[in-house]
Amino acid sequence: MAHRVRKAVFPVAGLGTRFLPATKAMPKEMLTVVDRPLIQHVVDEAKEAGIEHFIFVTGRNKGVIEDHFDRQFELEQVLAARGKTTELKLLDEDLPGPGSTSFTRQQEPLGLGHAVWCARELVGNEPFALLLPDVLVQTKGKGCLAQMLDVYAEHGGNIIAVEPVPQDQVKLYGVVSIGKGDGRVFPVDGMVEKPKPGTEPSNLTILGRYILQPEIFDILSAQEKGAGGEIQITDAMIALLQRQPFYALKYEGKTFDCGSKIGFLTANVAYALARPDLADAFKEEIRKLI
Ligand code: G1P
Repeated sequence: MAHRVRKAVFPVAGLGTRFLPATKAMPKEMLTVVDRPLIQHVVDEAKEAGIEHFIFVTGRNKGVIEDHFDRQFELEQVLAARGKTTELKLLDEDLPGPGSTSFTRQQEPLGLGHAVWCARELVGNEPFALLLPDVLVQTKGKGCLAQMLDVYAEHGGNIIAVEPVPQDQVKLYGVVSIGKGDGRVFPVDGMVEKPKPGTEPSNLTILGRYILQPEIFDILSAQEKGAGGEIQITDAMIALLQRQPFYALKYEGKTFDCGSKIGFLTANVAYALARPDLADAFKEEIRKLI
């Protein structure tokens, strides 16, 4: 039986240069989609999937992320004194349990693979989930990670969520080639990080949700540089693919790449339209604008 996935890693050390000046003094992961920071949406997805321990790989100027997942006594006191029970309940629901978060720092921006490797001591010798907070996945039923864990419970090994993107965007992502599957779950044959146009094995991209076995850390220890001169998680996965089963899941849901301005703005619209307390009034305002 596959070993249970209890821990999730969130790499949050990136500089967020694409969102300057918004991200000059504030981490990009704290940009809000409706009224929740990006990182909170992604932690929500992990929590819903049953993750028990949340590991953040941070960097300089990211202290506010740590504060976000802690109590804010002064604020809570004021809310209590004013009888704001709804707001208090909301803060309480989002608060991770005592001891269920860990924070470590990536000291230099050496790539996503390096950021993940920085979490090796906190993850230890067990499988873990990896969620990139730039990417939001909106689903009607189970969240993306929960869907992946269902596949993991059946197949074990390593799992990545994939989705088809328009051909001209493939070069921006990690890309997979897959074998014959059941229409939803496929064995992965190969992967390439940010392929040169014309060399891409398919238009199926790696979305930013992974379930990985701890042997990935041994491979990452070699610190080999790949695409863009960075230590890439995709390259480490290519090596792991030679030794362990790897599956791609075509998940059910819609992805927003919030690392791009258009993706981020679209996510705000989509998430607001999915909110019963906002949808009608918001639709009306959008209609007036368009
Ligand atoms: C990273 C991964 C890439 C993946 C992408 C998803 O790239 O390296 O394989 O497809 O996230 O957003 P980045 O966006 O950090 O350049």
